[in-house]
Amino acid sequence: MNDFHSYLPRHGHGLKHDPIAAILGPRPIGWISTLSPLGIANLAPYSFFNIFNYRPPIVAFSSVGFKDTVRNAQSSGEFVYNLATRALAERVNASSAAVAPTVSEFELAGLSRRASLSVAPPAVAESPVAMECKVIEVKRLCDAQGSELDTWMVFGEVVHVHIARSALCGPEGTYDTAAAAPILRGGGPADYFEIGAAQRFELFRPL
Ligand SMILES: Cc1cc2nc3c(=O)[nH]c(=O)nc-3n(C[C@H](O)[C@H](O)[C@H](O)COP(=O)(O)O)c2cc1C
Repeated sequence: MNDFHSYLPRHGHGLKHDPIAAILGPRPIGWISTLSPLGIANLAPYSFFNIFNYRPPIVAFSSVGFKDTVRNAQSSGEFVYNLATRALAERVNASSAAVAPTVSEFELAGLSRRASLSVAPPAVAESPVAMECKVIEVKRLCDAQGSELDTWMVFGEVVHVHIARSALCGPEGTYDTAAAAPILRGGGPADYFEIGAAQRFELFRPL
C-alpha cells in the first residue's frame, strides 16, 4: 500500500493541491451564456461540463454555489453553450470574474453577441461553435448520506447548433475537433490544455 497515496476525501487529501480535478482532466469547458430576468446577458465558464446523450443531445454543467448562470437558466429555461478556444482563452478567463448580476461579462471580456435562433440568450459571436439549449432540469446534488449540497447541476437539451464553416473540413464537412483549437481545464489554480492534431489517435470498437 505504500506505493499509493491513499486518503478519505472527507478527511482531506494531504497534498498541496487537490488531485481529483487534475486527475479528471483536462475537462471540456462549457462557456455558458444566459439572460437574466432584467435581460442582461451573462457569460461564465463551467468545466464541470459534458455531454450525456446523443439523441437528443443532452449536456449538463454543475455550479458549486447557486451562481448567476444557474439562476438565469432556471428562471428563463434556456442557455447557450459556446466553444472555448485557445484564441479566446484570456477572454474565457476574464468572463469568470465574480461580478454583480447587473454586469454583463460580454462587455467585461470584450466579446460581442450573436443573436440565437431558438432561444433568447445570445451566443459569443467570436466563438466558432454555439449550441442553443432548453433546460430539462436543475438538480441539487446530495452526498451519499442524502445531505443536500450547495451544488446545482443544470441539464439541457441542445435544440439548435451553429458551427463556423471554417471548422468543417474536407469534402464531407467533417467537424475536426482539433481544428478549432479548443481549450480544456486541468487541475490546480491555472492549468489548461490545448487540443491539437498531434494528440489524436484512432481506435475502432471491437465488433
Ligand atoms: C475555466 C473555468 C472553469 C470553471 N468551472 C466552474 C465550474 O465547473 N463550476 C463552478 O461553479 N464554477 C466554475 N468556474 C468559476 C465560475 O466561472 C465563476 O464562479 C463565475 O463567476 C460564475 O459566473 P456566474 O455567477 O455569472 O454564473 C470556472 C472558472 C473558470 C475560469
